[in-house]
Formats: sequence, C-alpha cells, structure tokens
Amino acid sequence: MADMPVLRGGITLAAIAAICTALVAVTFELTDDRIEKNAQAWLEQSLLPVLAGVSFDSGIGENRLAIAAPHELPGNDDAMIYRVYAGDSPAAALFVVSARDGYSGPIRLLVGLDTSGIVTGLSVLEHRETPGLGDGIESRNWQEQFVGKSLENPAGNRWNIRGDGGEFDALTGASVTPRAVVKAVRETLEYYAANRGIIFATANAPEKATK
Ligand SMILES: Cc1cc2nc3c(=O)[nH]c(=O)nc-3n(C[C@H](O)[C@H](O)[C@H](O)COP(=O)(O)O)c2cc1C
Repeated sequence: MADMPVLRGGITLAAIAAICTALVAVTFELTDDRIEKNAQAWLEQSLLPVLAGVSFDSGIGENRLAIAAPHELPGNDDAMIYRVYAGDSPAAALFVVSARDGYSGPIRLLVGLDTSGIVTGLSVLEHRETPGLGDGIESRNWQEQFVGKSLENPAGNRWNIRGDGGEFDALTGASVTPRAVVKAVRETLEYYAANRGIIFATANAPEKATK
C-alpha cells in the first residue's frame, strides 16, 4: 500500500508525457506546411533578382537539378540548377556555383542565364572577402555589369577584368576577388553551352531533385 503514491505519481507523469507528445505532434502537423511554404517563398525571393527580363510562369525554386561534386561547374562543392519555365518551354536556368579563387576562400554565386545563354543576373550569396576591399562584389551596380553578357559578348580574352585586358570593372586595390567572380561566371556560361541539352532534357515539372 505504501507504493500507491509512487504508482499514482508514475501514472500522472506518463499522462503528462503523452499529452506533451500529442501537443508536439499536433503543432508539427499544423505548422509543417506553413514552414515549407515560407521556405519556398524565401527561396523564390532570393532567386528572383537574377531573372531580369525573363518571362516565366513556373515557380522559381521548385524545379531543381542537383549536381553533385565533382563537376565541371565552378566550385568544389555541390552545385544546384533551378530551371524556370514559360508554359512547357524552358525560360531560364539559375546556377548556384562557387568561385574557387576568392581572396579569402570560395565565393557562392547565383548566376541566371536565359535559354540562349545570356546572363539575366548575378547575385553574391555568400563570401568571406575583406570589408572595404573584396566585398565590393556585393554592390548591385557591380553585379549588373554582367546582365546581357554572353560567351560571345564580350568575346575571347575580353571576358576578364580590365587589368587583365578584359572589360569588366575590378575593385580598387582588390582585383583578386572580381577576377575570381568573372572567371566563375564565364565558366558557368561555358558549362551551359556544353550541357544545355541535358539541363533541360526532362519535360516540364520533372521529378524534383532531392537535397
Ligand atoms: C588584410 C588584407 C585583406 C585583403 N583583402 C582582399 C580582398 O578581399 N580581395 C582582394 O581582391 N584583395 C584583397 N587584398 C589585396 C590583395 O593582397 C592584392 O593586393 C590585391 O587584390 C591586388 O589588387 P590590385 O591589383 O588592384 O592591386 C587584401 C590585402 C590585405 C593585406
């Protein structure tokens, strides 16, 4: 009989644990969908700025092609290609790649290309370049110099920073960073030219790539 309070306490604790577990499960069920939708909206907001002048009606972030390293895109880590459509027709491909030769390590970039291989935008997603020097690549003005460019425009050696005989602006006293970015954008264009068929080979709304 002396065990009764202990038993009662145990049952109460078990009941509380069961109620808490149920509450967590219900909360997860109610919010899971909203979290997924918010994540998708955030992704689309991040991708949108590199789609200048592109007409499309598909979701931006929902049609992904994961490219596992090693690959021929810039960077040693996995790359991602987001494919954007107008109806059933491909409209653009957005590449998440890394410029390998940053001053302080890789620079994560988002490069948008329309189907004819013209740059629709560049965005710097992540970098560790020096504030006041290499971080000038964050400037929208600096990034916009790539819009409208393609492998043929400018041609050949002109796809470099000015100091190297090219036509892209460098940054004062910090040419390592922009040189790395220009090279990565050019390599992305080269990859697209060589793999265009494969990138859009699947029909609209193919299976979503897993993470
Ligand atoms: C502490 C420190 C940080 C630097 N950070 C960068 C950087 O983020 N990006 C860059 O291109 N150069 C950086 N540099 C400068 C490079 O050493 C190099 O001088 C420069 O990139 C060459 O550019 P220039 O051809 O315009 O002189 C840094 C130098 C120092 C001492």
